[in-house]
Amino acid sequence: MYIQLKDFRLAYTDAGQGPPLLFVHGYPLSRGLWEPQIEALVDVARVLAPDLRGFGDSQPVPGPYSMELFADDLNAFLDALEIDEPAVICGLSMGGYVTFAFYRKYAHRVRGLVLTSTRAVPDSAEGKARRDQAAAEAMQAGVASVVDGMIPKLLAPQNLKNRPELVERASAIMSSASLQGVVGALNAMKDRPDSTPTLGRIAVPTLIVHGAEDSIVPLAEARQIADAIPGARLEVIPDAGHLLNIENPEAYNRVVRQFLGSLGA
Ligand code: MLT
Repeated sequence: MYIQLKDFRLAYTDAGQGPPLLFVHGYPLSRGLWEPQIEALVDVARVLAPDLRGFGDSQPVPGPYSMELFADDLNAFLDALEIDEPAVICGLSMGGYVTFAFYRKYAHRVRGLVLTSTRAVPDSAEGKARRDQAAAEAMQAGVASVVDGMIPKLLAPQNLKNRPELVERASAIMSSASLQGVVGALNAMKDRPDSTPTLGRIAVPTLIVHGAEDSIVPLAEARQIADAIPGARLEVIPDAGHLLNIENPEAYNRVVRQFLGSLGA
């Protein structure tokens, strides 16, 4: 499905019935990431999964992008669908950075948070330099070169080695990222604000979910987030790296389903 927002056409999935559950994908992914969750959770939620601007089937629009701009897009998306009821927002990695930005600006729209494979701290100086290198590579060698280079980091080592279908799937999910999306998101991540001060102010039920073998965001960072958010709980998913929700969907879906159940009507 598509919906026209102010300056671009956004592609999304809207499935199931119940309280809204909004999934926000990471970089350089798309809503295809959430397929196992969409299938498994439609009986308990109205599952919404947009492609962020520049990714998946959403229109590639020129930058600059920012986490706040992505959050504004989500707000406009909920407005366009006339969803007034506060939603559970579930963001993975960059989707988590967007979720923090969304919470800062639109807390009244948030029923709960599921922070997946994400971090609160901003990029280090070396991290920022790596963003610049990746953007230069995308412009010179093409998006595929950057995307292919990411695969080994996204999955737990044993999944990378033994599950070729998963490697193929991760690659397919990233295949529609546009150059504008990739460069826009790299710059937006590089300049993203520190979300650490936000953590103590989060006043909605929050679940942190992290892969035991995430090599992009170390588990220690998820523990710090869980410690800093009042009442938050951390669930560690075994046999999974950064893309835990497709590496071990049964375990991931189980903890998300339990969390939704704990929120009540
Ligand atoms: C993501 O998965 O969204 C990115 O790897 C996050 C990042 O590069 O900081």
